[in-house]
Amino acid sequence: MSERPPVADWATDFDHLSEEWAAGGPEIMADLRERCPVASTERFYGAYLVTRHDDITKTARDTETFSNRVTAVNTNHPDKIKLDLSPITLDPPEHGPVRRPLLPSFSPKATAELEPTVVAMAERLLDGIGDRTLVDGALDYAQLLPVEVMSHLFGVSADMGPSFRRWVDGVIKEGQIDLDIARRAAREVQEFFANQLDEREELGDGAPDDLVTTVLRAEAESPDGSTRPFTRKERIGALFVLMLGGIDTTWSTLGSMLLHLGTHPDDLERLVGEPELMPTAIEEFLRFYSPVTIARYITEDADIAGCPVSGGKRVLLAYPSANRDPEYFDRPDEFILDRENNRHMAFGVGVHRCLGSNLARMELEVGLSAWLRRYPRFELAVDPSEVPWSVGPVRGPRSVPIRILG
Ligand code: HEM
Repeated sequence: MSERPPVADWATDFDHLSEEWAAGGPEIMADLRERCPVASTERFYGAYLVTRHDDITKTARDTETFSNRVTAVNTNHPDKIKLDLSPITLDPPEHGPVRRPLLPSFSPKATAELEPTVVAMAERLLDGIGDRTLVDGALDYAQLLPVEVMSHLFGVSADMGPSFRRWVDGVIKEGQIDLDIARRAAREVQEFFANQLDEREELGDGAPDDLVTTVLRAEAESPDGSTRPFTRKERIGALFVLMLGGIDTTWSTLGSMLLHLGTHPDDLERLVGEPELMPTAIEEFLRFYSPVTIARYITEDADIAGCPVSGGKRVLLAYPSANRDPEYFDRPDEFILDRENNRHMAFGVGVHRCLGSNLARMELEVGLSAWLRRYPRFELAVDPSEVPWSVGPVRGPRSVPIRILG
């Protein structure tokens, strides 16, 4: 996939888009956290990687020095990235007015109302698997459920699933290295949502009550209390980021959960026997397998933990690494199904903290519970070293071959 040279030293030459990182990210991060908490690289026009909990928190909270205008470190020059993914690519004070109108659609109440629909979707997907004894937990299940949920929320046909998956892969997987793939996918997404918005606009009062209509009618509130409709760019950006944020993150975590249980029979047996542990277990899955490492654009020369960082470059915030920081977690590299005091950072920190976290937790719980009701005994059908992990800002297993046990 990549023609870039192998990494000489992860502290001074990191390459977070390499297969080596995809396969061994947690181990590499643990090493960096210990010996070089602000790693650097000359690749990608020069970038940094922050791995300690405190440093990530401080960086994420300093939105003036560390801007969200660019959220990926890839082969594109930081000043050439112009993708509008409002609200994630906005900084305060513009960010809040575009984020707030989206929140009610992802509130605990909205999520609870959606739950029976998601249960039915999960059951239907499992019906499709039926009595097969060899299943790909990622391809046949984990990747499908969040896509169905998002299609439902957008009010579009479930037939859009394959396109959503191709677009997400295009933008945040292959497109991180091959810019043409990213550009093509982004254009298709923008056109798709532009058409959806136009259709809802034509329907006027008869438009269905879905996310596209919500975004179409959303009003941003200014500090003086006046309101204005979202701009066309903000509307398309919001739908785009909801699609990106809502799909790959959740399928990666659900895939990791199946992979974990398929390789840890004690945890599987305990969770099946004590389903009341599920909410606690979900938090541990999120901590241990947190998928998102996201970037900030450095607006001026600054320092992080005493290390100088240059304006105009980008810095990656490794949330998965914060979640294994021994300063914050006892036995951080152990997966503890009933871990208490688990204030993990899988959903980020600061003003951009995930706005879909209620929905994500519900999907993970519903998705795993439905699977365990149907298949309480299963195991990974290959050696764990053969499981391919995704390259890009969202890490998860791309394929989880599972043997269902009788
Ligand atoms: C396991 C699932 C998920 C994980 C681990 C996750 C993780 C994250 C993280 C780490 C951020 C912060 C990014 C930053 O610091 O810049 C974020 C932001 C965001 N997430 Fe999620 N997410 C998940 C599911 C979802 C879902 C289901 C949705 C919605 C459908 C969603 C929508 C968003 C949006 C729109 C933002 C940007 C918020 C803002 O900029 O104010 N996410 N997510």
